[in-house]
Amino acid sequence: MSVGAHRTLTISPSAVNFSTSSKSAFGDLIRETVSNLIAPFRKEYKDWPWAGIAVVSVVCVGSYSVYKLLPGSYRQFYMYSTAQYVEEYNKALHTYKENLFSQLETIKVQKGAKMSVVEIGIGSGANFSFYPRDIVEVVGVDPNREWESYLTDILKKNRHVKCPELLVGNAENISVIRESQVDAVVSTLTLSCVKDVDQACREVRRILKPGGLFLYLENVRSENVVIALIQALFTPFYKLFYGMSLIRNIPKNIEHANFTNFSQQLFHANGLTFFMAPHVLGVAKK
Ligand SMILES: C[S@@+](CC[C@H](N)C(=O)[O-])C[C@H]1O[C@@H](n2cnc3c(N)ncnc32)[C@H](O)[C@@H]1O
Repeated sequence: MSVGAHRTLTISPSAVNFSTSSKSAFGDLIRETVSNLIAPFRKEYKDWPWAGIAVVSVVCVGSYSVYKLLPGSYRQFYMYSTAQYVEEYNKALHTYKENLFSQLETIKVQKGAKMSVVEIGIGSGANFSFYPRDIVEVVGVDPNREWESYLTDILKKNRHVKCPELLVGNAENISVIRESQVDAVVSTLTLSCVKDVDQACREVRRILKPGGLFLYLENVRSENVVIALIQALFTPFYKLFYGMSLIRNIPKNIEHANFTNFSQQLFHANGLTFFMAPHVLGVAKK
C-alpha cells in the first residue's frame, strides 16, 4: 500500500513536469522565432506613435461596428455630428450662401403664387435662414426620416419659410414629383453624399420647369494633387461621420448634365480645414 502510494506520488509530478517543460520549450521557440522575425521592424518602427495608431484603430473599428450592428444608433450619431458641423459650415460660407440664395429672387412666379423649391438632402434645415422672405415653399428630399424633428424645430425659428413636406427618399429617384414641376432645386453638401451624382443631376433636370434653376454649393476634389491625395485619405472618416466624399469632381458632373447653361465658380472656402476647403458654387438653368 505504502509502496503503491509512493509510486503514485513520484510518477505523477514527473509526468506533469515533462509535459510542462515541453510546452514551455515550444512556447519559447515560438516567442524566439516571432521576436527574430519582427526584430528588424521593431528597430525601424520603434519611433512610430503606436499609442495614437492604436486609439485611431479602436475608434475606427468601434465606429464601423456601431455602423454595421446598430444602424439606428449610428444614424442618430451621424445626424448629430452633421447638424453640429453644418452650423460651423454656415458661419464660414455665410456670404457664399447669401449670394447663392439671392438667385432665387430672379425667378418670376405668378402673382400671389409661391415659388416651388425642392431641396435635395435637406438635412437639419441649415439653409432655411437663407431663403428669401415669404416667397418660397420648400419640399425637402432626404433618405433620413429622422431629420423631421430637426426641421420642425428650425421652422419655428424661420417662420418666413413654408416647408409642407419631407419626401423620404433619394435624390436619384424623386419619382413622386412629375416632370417640369418646380421653379428651383437647391443642393448644398449633398451631391458629395448621394450615391450617383449623374443620376441625381438627371432627376434635378427632370423636375425643373423649363428655365428653372439648380443652385448648388458643394465641396469638391482639389486640383492640387497632394491635397487631393490627402482628401482621399480622409474620405473614409468623412463618410463615417458626415456621409460625404471629399474627392468628387462635381463641376464635371454638372458639365455633363445637359443643362441649357450654367455658371460655376471654384473657390477655396476660408475657415474650413484645408482638405474640405475646395468648393464649387454654381447656378445651372434647365
Ligand atoms: C452633409 S449633409 C448636408 C445637409 C444640408 N444640405 C446642409 O447643407 O446642411 C448631407 C445630406 O444629404 C442627405 N443624403 C444622403 N444621401 C442622399 C441621397 N441619396 N439623396 C438625397 N439626400 C441624401 C443626408 O441625409 C444629409 O441630410
